Parts: sequence; C-alpha cells; structure tokens
Amino acid sequence: MLEVFPATAKITDDGHLTIGGCNAIEIAEQHGTPVIVFDRATFEKRAESYAAVLGPRQVFYAGKSFCCVAVCELLDRLGLSLDVCTGGELATALRASFPADRIAFHGNNKSISELEMAKEAGVGRIVVDSFEELERIAKVGLTTRLLVRITPGVEAHTHEFVQTGQEDSKFGFGLADGVAFEAVKRAMAVPGCTLVGLHAHIGSQIFEMAAFDLAVRRLAAFANDIRKELGFVAEELNLGGGLGIAHTDDEITPDIEESVQRISSAVQREFEALSLAIPRLYCEPGRSIVGPAAVTLYRAGTVKQIPGVRTYVSVDGGMSDNIRPALYDARYEAFVADRMNAKQGPRVTLSGKHCESGDVLIRDVHLPADICEGDLIVVPATGAYTYSMANNYNRVARPPVVMVHEGRSTVIVERETNDDLLKLDRRLDGSKPG
Ligand SMILES: Cc1ncc(COP(=O)(O)O)c(C=O)c1O
Repeated sequence: MLEVFPATAKITDDGHLTIGGCNAIEIAEQHGTPVIVFDRATFEKRAESYAAVLGPRQVFYAGKSFCCVAVCELLDRLGLSLDVCTGGELATALRASFPADRIAFHGNNKSISELEMAKEAGVGRIVVDSFEELERIAKVGLTTRLLVRITPGVEAHTHEFVQTGQEDSKFGFGLADGVAFEAVKRAMAVPGCTLVGLHAHIGSQIFEMAAFDLAVRRLAAFANDIRKELGFVAEELNLGGGLGIAHTDDEITPDIEESVQRISSAVQREFEALSLAIPRLYCEPGRSIVGPAAVTLYRAGTVKQIPGVRTYVSVDGGMSDNIRPALYDARYEAFVADRMNAKQGPRVTLSGKHCESGDVLIRDVHLPADICEGDLIVVPATGAYTYSMANNYNRVARPPVVMVHEGRSTVIVERETNDDLLKLDRRLDGSKPG
C-alpha cells in the first residue's frame, strides 16, 4: 500500500499515517486542509538517483512539474540544473538565487520580454523551438548556448508509444519534413550564440522504455546527417523527461537509475554505430522526481448516498488544487489518515467542492465503510502537476505546501487568502476595493 507514498511514509501501530516523521493528523490540525505535504527526503533521493548516473549538472529538473523558491533552493544544494519554460518560472529561480548558468529556457512561444529576462539573468541554455524564436534571439542579442528541439516522430504516453509519421505537435522541429535540418543550419548562424546540441522530449508517464530507444536511434541518424552535411557535431543530447510513476497500487514506478542507465547505453550504442562522437547526455525529469514526494490531505465533508447508484464523498478541495483527473482522467488512490489499516468498504466517488459535475478526484475508490464528515483523506502521488496547475475556480484559494523532514514541518508555499484573491480586483471606477 505504501508504494505510492513518499519513501518516508509509515503507519503507526494505531493506524496513523506519518510522513517525514510527522503525523498527518497533526499536520492537518496545524496547517489546515486541503494541504499538500511535500517530503524533502523523497525529493532529494529521487533527484540524486538521476545525478548518480549522469552527474548533477546534467539533470535539469523540469520546473513545470512543481516550482517554488524552496524547491529551487533544494535543487541548488543538490547541484542540479533547472528547466524553466516561462518568465514566471525563471523569476522564481532567480528569487531563489539559483545560478542562471545552470538554467535552460524552454517554451514553444517565448516572448521578447522573456528572452530579454533570460539575457539579463545570463541563462545558460535556450532550447530553440521555432524559426521565429531564432529571430527573436538574434533581435534581443542573447549570447548563450542553444539546443534545437527536435520532434522525432515518437510519441509516448503511459504504457504505449506510437511512431507518428507527420509529427503533429506544436513543439519543436520535425525530422520528417527537413525542418529540423534547416533549424540546425540557422541556429548555427545566430550571432553571439553557440549551438551545442539537440533536444527531444517524447511524452509523459512513460513506462515503455523502447520508446526512448527509438527516439535515440532517430536522433543519432539525424546527428549523422548534420555532421556530414553541415559539419555540426552535437556535443549535448537532452532527452527531456517523461519517466512514469505509480499513482495507484496496480502500477509500478520504474527504477530511475536503471532507466537512465538504459537510455545512456542506447545513446552510446546508436552513436557508436554511426562512428559519431558520443554526446553528453542530459535529461529533464519532473514528475519522476517530485510526483511521489507529496500527498494531499483533504477533510471529508458531505457524504451523499444515492442507493443503488453511488456514494459521493465531497472534500474541501478538488479541481482547483488537482485538475489532473478532470483534465486527463488521471487516477489516484485515497486512504483515511488515521485508519490506514481499516478494512476497505464499497467503492465511493471522491468529489471536490466545485460547481462542476466533472469535479471528481477519484471516480471509484475503496474507502472504509464508516467514512464520514471530518475524516482526513489522503491522496498520494500528488507532487507533480497539481500545485503547478492549481487555479482559483469558484474563487477557491490555493492550498499551502508544507515540507516535512525529520519530524519537522515547514510551510514552503503559504495558503492563499481571500485578500490574495481580491488583490487584483478594482471597482467600476478603477479604484481599489476595501
Ligand atoms: C520539454 C519538457 N521537458 C521535460 C518535461 C518533464 O516531463 P516529466 O514531468 O514527465 O518528467 C516536460 C513535460 O511536459 C517537457 O515538456
């Protein structure tokens, strides 16, 4: 049962959940609910697993999965690098004094002002996504390393992958139509910048490692073409993120070190086969580092039983703090934090508090039969793409993020207040209300 929980999770003799040495019930009493509980040790351990294979500098944590000042500080201490894809993520990293040289800037539509920000900060790498962007980079006068983002025609999500012929994606430059070749040619010519290599990100929640093998094969073939025809030797190969994690008991989280080792061997094999210099391998994991590091605690409220149909257990959060189930049918497990060993009752639907029938966190989940108002419900594996996608639908304030470590809990993102929600509002005459 604890496989989907942070590595430090334990169940006490009386059936209480503890994480990072802190009792979930006490965390909820101290910080309120809903609350995202972030286990520092799990985050560090998983980040270190990547670093153990590639070296810390070659691991660019994907800030989009969960980015805040404290996380940037942790990454810096671990010596990792950071991938940002907006001015907001960059501003967060800079506020944390994260070294700009270890930042790679992503995004399919970086604005001039974002590129200016990157220039001023001294961002170490820009991952180029379009021809327009190459022109914007030249216009802004950035002098940095460039990577060209390739769409290799391999799309991988969950347990399957497909070879996509026409590379239907808003991201990057396609291989099949020769656009990638042209992009490399133009990137080599951007004044003041140095093209250092290629980038590809083939999807998310990947369990099927063969997808990476195929992507590497295609990228090696492309690297061979550009070496022969343009004389460009790719020193760096960034294979993005995407490694999956288990959200439910029927999934198994792949071992990070084994998976990265396998990708690294594929790079060696494919480049050697073409007598190419082996590029330095970089990656951009998000979910596989932070996903298992957090759980969300909710307080159960209304329990609506519709005999012969279903039981709805509504909690005090929902699609504003975790939109993944509504957005792409993401699945989770749920437990009651002070009855972790209780016998599971019939399936119920765990729903949120928003005015939307689709505001469902888990459609059919077993919870103890005596589930009732006031119970503390824990949903594990909520570290990635939950807080970072959190929103204020129905003017619901976003929850805090509380870091637990060695028996202590520390707020690393405060709970939003109604004043925070109102701070941008203005009256009809443009004046500040209140
Ligand atoms: C370019 C790029 N790199 C890295 C990631 C991180 O992926 P994951 O969180 O699945 O590891 C993403 C996610 O969308 C991405 O688009």
